[in-house]
Amino acid sequence: MNQDPKRFTITAALPYTNGPVHIGHLAGVYVPADIYARFQRLQGKDVAFVCGSDEHGVPITIKAKKEGITPQEVVDKYHAIIKKSFEDFGITFDNYSRTSAKIHHDTASEFFKKLYDEGKFMEEVTEQLYDEEANQFLADRFIVGTCPKCGNEESYGDQCENCGTSHNATDLINPKSAITGATPTLKETKHWFLPLDQYEPFLKEWILKEHKKDWKTNVYGQCKSWIDDGLRPRAVTRDLDWGIPVPVDGAEGKVLYVWFDAPIGYISATKEWAEREGKDWEPYWKNDDTKLLHFIGKDNIVFHCIIFPSMLKADGSYIMPDNVPANEFLNLEGNKISTSKNWAVWLHEYLEEFPNQQDVLRYVLTANAPETKDNDFTWADFQQRNNSELVAIFGNFINRVMVLTHKYYNGVVPKPSAFSEIDEQTLKELKAYPAVIESSIERYRFREAQGELMNVARLGNKYLADEEPWKTIKTDEARTQTVMYVALQIATALAVLSEPFLPFTSNRLKNMLNFEGLETVPNWKSIRQMVPPSGEMPLGKGGHTINESELLFSKIEDEQMQQQLDKLQASKAMNEAANKKAEPQKETIQFDDFTKLDMRVGTIIEAEKMPKTKKLLVLKVDTGIDVRTIVSGIAESFTPEEIVGKQVTVLVNLAPRPLRGVESQGMILMTENAEGKLVFVNPASEGVTNGSQIN
Ligand code: 2FM
Ligand code: ZN
Repeated sequence: MNQDPKRFTITAALPYTNGPVHIGHLAGVYVPADIYARFQRLQGKDVAFVCGSDEHGVPITIKAKKEGITPQEVVDKYHAIIKKSFEDFGITFDNYSRTSAKIHHDTASEFFKKLYDEGKFMEEVTEQLYDEEANQFLADRFIVGTCPKCGNEESYGDQCENCGTSHNATDLINPKSAITGATPTLKETKHWFLPLDQYEPFLKEWILKEHKKDWKTNVYGQCKSWIDDGLRPRAVTRDLDWGIPVPVDGAEGKVLYVWFDAPIGYISATKEWAEREGKDWEPYWKNDDTKLLHFIGKDNIVFHCIIFPSMLKADGSYIMPDNVPANEFLNLEGNKISTSKNWAVWLHEYLEEFPNQQDVLRYVLTANAPETKDNDFTWADFQQRNNSELVAIFGNFINRVMVLTHKYYNGVVPKPSAFSEIDEQTLKELKAYPAVIESSIERYRFREAQGELMNVARLGNKYLADEEPWKTIKTDEARTQTVMYVALQIATALAVLSEPFLPFTSNRLKNMLNFEGLETVPNWKSIRQMVPPSGEMPLGKGGHTINESELLFSKIEDEQMQQQLDKLQASKAMNEAANKKAEPQKETIQFDDFTKLDMRVGTIIEAEKMPKTKKLLVLKVDTGIDVRTIVSGIAESFTPEEIVGKQVTVLVNLAPRPLRGVESQGMILMTENAEGKLVFVNPASEGVTNGSQIN
């Protein structure tokens, strides 16, 4: 463990550029990484916080095929959306790059070439899965089959999303091509393999010995299980046409495996940033006094703890990550978040639908962060945390302090007189908070850290409630001044300490407290080192003028939440309809069987609900032959009024049958539309009269 690092290299998993970023990504990776990076910068540390778009790999190609555009067009579109949404959400990357950038292609090619030249790869001709119909090799997500470890029938070629195992495509049981559905054949092809087995002793020493205590249990546990299972050589090249060409002779038509190039993206993003800033990138990756951290989701653990470190070790000039604080998954309203199923809250949409409310989402995602187990995001919890925590605790305290300071002292911080024991105790507690929050952040416990921040606001509320300046103002001028002075110091601490978690709120609060008008602008250190009650204090010793007040948070109403729930339901219905598989064809019938069916065009002339039932309507239908009664189970989809006058298809020679005491003399033909709603099978072209036969 690097105790006193000189600089920090903080990486956040490069998002795949086949879709926008959603709350699962934010909670798992980007919000905690941003809190950490902001916190270290506030401590005056040298930080390189890097990320970028992961633009290679099969998911991009699949998306391009589906949309009928090129892979480059796919990544251009989503790179722009993702980059902007991160900026608007206040994620403070020092550099957000992309793996299609030249600097990355060069860096990844050089990395491969060096290992190749030094003989670190095994070159082997092996049999790989091949789709004869599509005329291509099937790598990674082009292949689906049963996971040999957990039995999940939808495992990808390189990784099972159910159990997290990373495997070779040929390990899959019953593999099928994701392109054509065909059963693949085996075909020989040459590839380069990283012999992970050779790095086992190093990994055992580095992870199992050095990091048993300081890595999260989930991360350590996964690593241990892989190492204990025994590591095997992994192919780092693929037969694909989208990616970084393998930079050696005899590798035409082959590209680097996306999981070989993507983590190198952290290095190229650092290089790009350093070039821009006129710095040297190498210390950020090669010096022992650098703390390298990878923020990722749990599905990326093997790549960041086993494969990438083995690549770095093979090169020999790099440091190892000090920690890989991987999070578990966030679900949404009880279901797994899914890009392909559109079951997600998309960041760019949230930013549009909740303008200036970045911090509410940041707060909720941290308060409910999946740090030790999978968690669920619900809109009810979002609303509750906003209304009962941000508004009622944080916002309420600040609002009272601001309003009273303006009301009693025209916005000028009053000078305190004698401090009571409670004042001294309160300020002493306040001073202790930076260290408490620091300790949680340094252990990657961001929920706990944010909880402590809220305790600062709770301290303020309790102090005001106990000291009641609104009462003492009538009786004791000096006491009121002291109480407001103490309360304003608490507000100042909140402005500073909230910065990593609620940066927009922190900024607004700093403006309200007019930090710029102070001789020494309060910072993390000044809260930590204040000398209460009467020594150095962050907001000075009285006399400073604050600015106008504004509301930091506002109540979120039920209606807005309902809109979000409706939106999710609509997207679920659309998705189910789009993915609905047609029922298999029924047994063959002869022409004579068909001619037995007598189907006619008819018109509904009366309709009423069958008493005491939910589903049934009693209809009078003019079939052209007669007017008859038909009982139909469509009451949940139609009101009687809306169907009277409708022309429909009627099976008229179905044997009559009694339904709830009414004889039904036929059947109306129905089907379901894309949203799962019943609709009439209505063959009527204009001018078709009742009684016309359907042949
Ligand atoms: O799981 C993912 O979304 C990957 N695109 C993460 C890549 S992280 C890395 F190493 F670049
Ligand atoms: Zn599995």
